[in-house]
Amino acid sequence: THCILIGAPVDEGQRRPGCLMGPAAYRVAGLAGTLTALGHTVEDLGDVTPDAPGSETCPNPAIHHLPEMVAWTRALRAAAEAAMPQGMPIFMGGDHALALGTVAGVAAHAARSGRPQFVIWLDAHSDFHTFRTTTSGNIHGTPMAYANGLAGFDPLPPFPTPIPGENICMFGIRSVDPAEHQAMQSSSIIVNDMRVLDEQGIVAPLRSFLERVKAEDGMLHVSLDVDFLDPSIAPAVGTTVPGGTTFREAHLVMELLHESGLVTSLDLVELNPFLDDRGRTAKLMVDLVGSLMGRKVFDRPTRSF
Ligand code: ARG
Ligand code: MN
Ligand code: MN
Ligand code: MN
Repeated sequence: THCILIGAPVDEGQRRPGCLMGPAAYRVAGLAGTLTALGHTVEDLGDVTPDAPGSETCPNPAIHHLPEMVAWTRALRAAAEAAMPQGMPIFMGGDHALALGTVAGVAAHAARSGRPQFVIWLDAHSDFHTFRTTTSGNIHGTPMAYANGLAGFDPLPPFPTPIPGENICMFGIRSVDPAEHQAMQSSSIIVNDMRVLDEQGIVAPLRSFLERVKAEDGMLHVSLDVDFLDPSIAPAVGTTVPGGTTFREAHLVMELLHESGLVTSLDLVELNPFLDDRGRTAKLMVDLVGSLMGRKVFDRPTRSF
């Protein structure tokens, strides 16, 4: 695979400074070397620089850094659209608000290729607020609703080709606000919250989703939020939620995604290196990318996933 590293030092989608150091931390933790060691080619495009922010406003007074996020969304959408025909973009965040742009860009590319877009959202949070419903005002809590085509995102342009709920699969969910809950009830998004994972394990729900992506010849975007992982193994995140996935579950998800051969783009989001413990979270995220891109303990004949 030709891997295209794109730094997205977005820090404006939440209130705890530090995610802007994420791209640097991934480079220091050896993301490029991990990929080349697995036989991939790597191109690092450096960090995306958005245009100067304008003066957009929206009716919800809680929202902060809106002009900055409008500029980021435009720049990242363009970066994603430009990278998709060249290889597999890996967006090194940056907080999760970057997905407003990255998912819009990959979805626009999929539409142009005549293929359906699918998304796997690995996160403690559903990030299903609109600009109207968020009470925190933190835009990182909104990108999934934008991608699903919900209204209430002006002044952002409408999402290019809204991704149907059936094409969106969430894993690891354990923190949902009331307005998000309500909105998700009236969408067809597949929500594998922690209750599902505890009862069924992660393999069965993941396989059934991947089978659909394959059957429909879809493109698959993976958005990996650090808080998908349990805070005991991944402390470098501003929004820790107890009860996250274990080291082994997380690697297993990545291995299954690799075996599927379906992943076409990836976000790495919410790493706050300022909160890390000797780089362990950055290193874990890089190791997870290693598993996603083919690292395995022992070679075995590939089963159909
Ligand atoms: N739902 C909460 C909010 O809107 C938390 C969102 C956390 N999102 C994230 N990408 N970590 O503020
Ligand atoms: Mn600021
Ligand atoms: Mn998130
Ligand atoms: Mn989260």
